[in-house]
Amino acid sequence: MKIKAAVLYEQGKKTPFSESKPLKVEEVDLEPPGAGEVLIRTGAAGLCHSDLSMINGVMQRKVPMVPGHEAAGVVEEIGANVTQCKPGDHVVMSFVPICGECEFCITGRSNICSTAFNARATGALINGNRRLSLNGEPLHHTNGVSCYAEYMVACEDSVITIDKEVPMLDAALFGCAVVTGVGAIINTAKIVPGSTIAVVGLGGVGLCALLGGVVAGAGRIIAVDIASDKLGLARQLGATDTFNATDPNCTEKIIEETKGGVEYAFEVAGVVEAMQTAYAITRRGGTTVTSGLSQHQHTFEIPHSQLVVDERTIKGSYMGSCVVRNDVPKFINLYKQGKLPVDKLRSGNICLNDLNQGFDKLAAGDAIRQMLVMHDEFSA
Ligand SMILES: NC(=O)c1ccc[n+]([C@@H]2O[C@H](COP(=O)([O-])OP(=O)(O)OC[C@H]3O[C@@H](n4cnc5c(N)ncnc54)[C@H](O)[C@@H]3O)[C@@H](O)[C@H]2O)c1
Ligand SMILES: [Zn+2]
Ligand SMILES: [Zn+2]
Repeated sequence: MKIKAAVLYEQGKKTPFSESKPLKVEEVDLEPPGAGEVLIRTGAAGLCHSDLSMINGVMQRKVPMVPGHEAAGVVEEIGANVTQCKPGDHVVMSFVPICGECEFCITGRSNICSTAFNARATGALINGNRRLSLNGEPLHHTNGVSCYAEYMVACEDSVITIDKEVPMLDAALFGCAVVTGVGAIINTAKIVPGSTIAVVGLGGVGLCALLGGVVAGAGRIIAVDIASDKLGLARQLGATDTFNATDPNCTEKIIEETKGGVEYAFEVAGVVEAMQTAYAITRRGGTTVTSGLSQHQHTFEIPHSQLVVDERTIKGSYMGSCVVRNDVPKFINLYKQGKLPVDKLRSGNICLNDLNQGFDKLAAGDAIRQMLVMHDEFSA
């Protein structure tokens, strides 16, 4: 079928994107779902910083590609042998499909599935197929999702069936921001109630970490960003203290305020400076968790003996260490109880033609999660 989709032809184009136009709306060809695959009508798709990093070249990807990895939608059609969902089901897309057979999948770590990791590098679906093309030339898939398109064909390993009550605009956020942010707190760090935590970087993912901290019963939640408006929102969402990272004494102030630093610090900005802040404000015996994805060649120095004598822990957190089939329904239950008010993270709806400007806004820090909507029935 012919569908409208955004195509990224070249990474690293100059800002403003509203002028350089890295994303072009095209009428592309989408093949029907093969065995083990499903056709999904895209409900809503979020603009995540990782998408921005694929556009500006911080993350190297194969082009031309149809971007977008955070989405929810409705199953329209299923291919042969599909058991995970049926037409009419509402689904959240998982940006890491689950092969179910690799060493990580069989040990409860499907978030780092090695089959998915290899497929992502080639720009194919996890089964090796490609379903998107333009003028007969294949287009690369993004993390098996490619949701900046009216429809998606994905492997059933990429979908999680959810409750139909959840509006698409909120459901989409569970595909990346929620699993990554809430999962970092609950799964990666496993914080205990009463803990003092800090979240460094308050975008869509960081604010979800903050909400996760509230849910997990953190005693004190310190929110840190370079943008003062993000600090205000963080307070509304449950931060007990806020600090601006542009203050040259920010680190010292947090250490003083917490009498030695926080038990758990979460870096969620995707820059080494934020990682340095997060590490510096972690107290003796504490844990620094990092979810941000900075340029792959960037490194972070650790004072070796301090790591040892302070018995510190540094942990990477990919997709919040979630087993998505288990965690997404749980997180949705928390949302339905009002405990994860992710609707407060949405910064308005946009259409395909607005994507370039949308990424300018995200890069400038002027939006949390803008939602791409391509079918009117999902706009509320
Ligand atoms: N690990 C994963 O599985 C995963 C999943 C999704 C996103 N990510 C990564 O997480 C990061 C955050 O994503 P997002 O969509 O929330 O981004 P975002 O752009 O919405 O938010 C980033 C925030 O960090 C702040 N910031 C920038 N520099 C800072 C500094 N030095 N100190 C403190 N704050 C600083 C910005 O002002 C902004 O509020 C990105 O690097 C993204 O690629 C990782
Ligand atoms: Zn696997
Ligand atoms: Zn994301």
